[in-house]
Amino acid sequence: MDKTAFVTGATRGIGAAIAAKLSSSGYFVIGTATSQSGAEAITTALGSAGRGIVLDVADAESVSQAIEAVAGIVENPPVVLVNNAGITKDNLMLRMSEDEWSNVINTNVNGLFRVTKGLLRGMIKARWGRIVNVGSVVGRMGNPGQANYVASKSAIEGFSRSLALEVASRNITVNTVAPGFVATDMTEELNDEQKTAMLARIPAGRMGQPEDIAGAVAFLVSDEAEYITGQTIQVNGGMYAA
Ligand SMILES: NC(=O)c1ccc[n+]([C@@H]2O[C@H](COP(=O)([O-])OP(=O)(O)OC[C@H]3O[C@@H](n4cnc5c(N)ncnc54)[C@H](OP(=O)(O)O)[C@@H]3O)[C@@H](O)[C@H]2O)c1
Repeated sequence: MDKTAFVTGATRGIGAAIAAKLSSSGYFVIGTATSQSGAEAITTALGSAGRGIVLDVADAESVSQAIEAVAGIVENPPVVLVNNAGITKDNLMLRMSEDEWSNVINTNVNGLFRVTKGLLRGMIKARWGRIVNVGSVVGRMGNPGQANYVASKSAIEGFSRSLALEVASRNITVNTVAPGFVATDMTEELNDEQKTAMLARIPAGRMGQPEDIAGAVAFLVSDEAEYITGQTIQVNGGMYAA
């Protein structure tokens, strides 16, 4: 266990599945939660294979503190980063408030910038790294009522493509995994009518499970994926072919 992976938003849903998958692949996993109780639950879930820490990606000070905390937990800085934390604040454009717009952009995009910047130096020094950013199928497809969220997820793809070019010569890959419609708390918020409509658009005939996404992340982190960078892998049961 000499390699550490850092997974944001590891309390539940997709992030928890990614943390579990990477720890079972031999990584020491530092998973983040927005609360102390969430961080403790991650520590309990990962056992000796990881640790939970508190992080609010929307707050620059919290990101700095979390990165300092990492230095006290592991000797070698993380060489795998999974930027998974994300939120939605849906509304139709004419009703969307400035706060709904900026909270989503600040968490999903600015947060990803802050965490990546904080951990990139360690990967450059190690001359090896894997960054996987969690986008969304709607980043390509668009979705009414989600202009803020879709803008954030499209931005994540552009960010990943650009950073990939900057760091490819350092043996660091940067990719996006774009989930489709996955059974988590985020989609639990949808009403039955919305869920039925969404399911009807999935040729595979089922919602994705968090483990479907974790499998794609684990592949991009693996040695087999060392020549894949700047790409987006769509994991959506055929819902959209981008
Ligand atoms: N579910 C889907 O269908 C779907 C589809 C496409 C893309 N995605 C993307 O996949 C990722 C995970 O989604 P999910 O469905 O697993 O979501 P979820 O069940 O709502 O979990 C969200 C995770 O993000 C964390 N988080 C929220 N705000 C944060 C902040 N400010 N700072 C740090 N962490 C924060 C939460 O921590 P706490 O538990 O502490 O609040 C939680 O661990 C997101 O980026 C989402 O946009 C999901």
